[in-house]
Amino acid sequence: MKTVVTTAYRPTPFTLDEAKSVSEQLAIPLVPRNKRSVEKLHQEEQADVLVAAKERLEFYPLGKTEPFFFHPNSSSFRTKRPLHQDPLIEVSKLAKGDVFVDCTLGMASDAIVASQFVGTEGRVVGCESHPILAYVVQQGLQRYQGMPHLHEAMKRVEVVQADAAEYLAGLPSNSVDVVYMDPMFTETISEASNFETIRQTANKDQLSLRWVTEARRVARKTVVLKAHFRSTDFEAYGFVRRVRPNTKFHYGAINCLNG
Ligand SMILES: C[S@@+](CC[C@H](N)C(=O)[O-])C[C@H]1O[C@@H](n2cnc3c(N)ncnc32)[C@H](O)[C@@H]1O
Repeated sequence: MKTVVTTAYRPTPFTLDEAKSVSEQLAIPLVPRNKRSVEKLHQEEQADVLVAAKERLEFYPLGKTEPFFFHPNSSSFRTKRPLHQDPLIEVSKLAKGDVFVDCTLGMASDAIVASQFVGTEGRVVGCESHPILAYVVQQGLQRYQGMPHLHEAMKRVEVVQADAAEYLAGLPSNSVDVVYMDPMFTETISEASNFETIRQTANKDQLSLRWVTEARRVARKTVVLKAHFRSTDFEAYGFVRRVRPNTKFHYGAINCLNG
């Protein structure tokens, strides 16, 4: 799908500069706003619309009138609890100073939790195949204000725009501690976040043998899958499922330490 960038409804020198810079960096057309509504822009441009607003980038996939924008989402409350008890941290056996590769960055909530936990000695790479989503989240991670205890952890997340299996294939064996994948659920669930807006647009790839094989090759410690509790991928790809009663999703782990 084609994407165009424009300014907020009333452009300012700042939002104009911003829109120009986005247009250059993403190599997408900059279109004048001309006081057009998002619906009108959708109709006239027949494209997804990215809006350079005063404080954030807003992404309106064609047909959607609610924007997707970066927000720390569940990481804001998860990082206020003891982090070693977070289910992702527990299942992955992540430790301070570890290298964590998040294959499915999305809103980056899991990546932020991991980044806060591994600290300044560690490293978190977030891989996202959707170019606009990757860009909006990367910019948001650098600029988000309002959650001071997370600013440094957010800034440390390295965003890579790539297909996860391709990215993993380029990494040396045993070069990271944890590889994590959280593909889109195939079951419909009610989303608490504005991720719902991009449900149709985001990459709906499910696990593949190649993806899991590359993850196992690259991870020293654990490969972790998060999926709907009805998913059969845990068993199909050899993940040991951690049943979480009364939750819609489960985590599963492949322990790489024993070869
Ligand atoms: C369910 S969301 C992940 C949510 C994320 N864990 C969070 O905390 O916000 C899945 C994301 O992974 C991306 N994705 C799916 N398959 C991918 C692949 N093969 N490579 C890279 N990104 C992928 C989708 O575009 C989507 O943004």
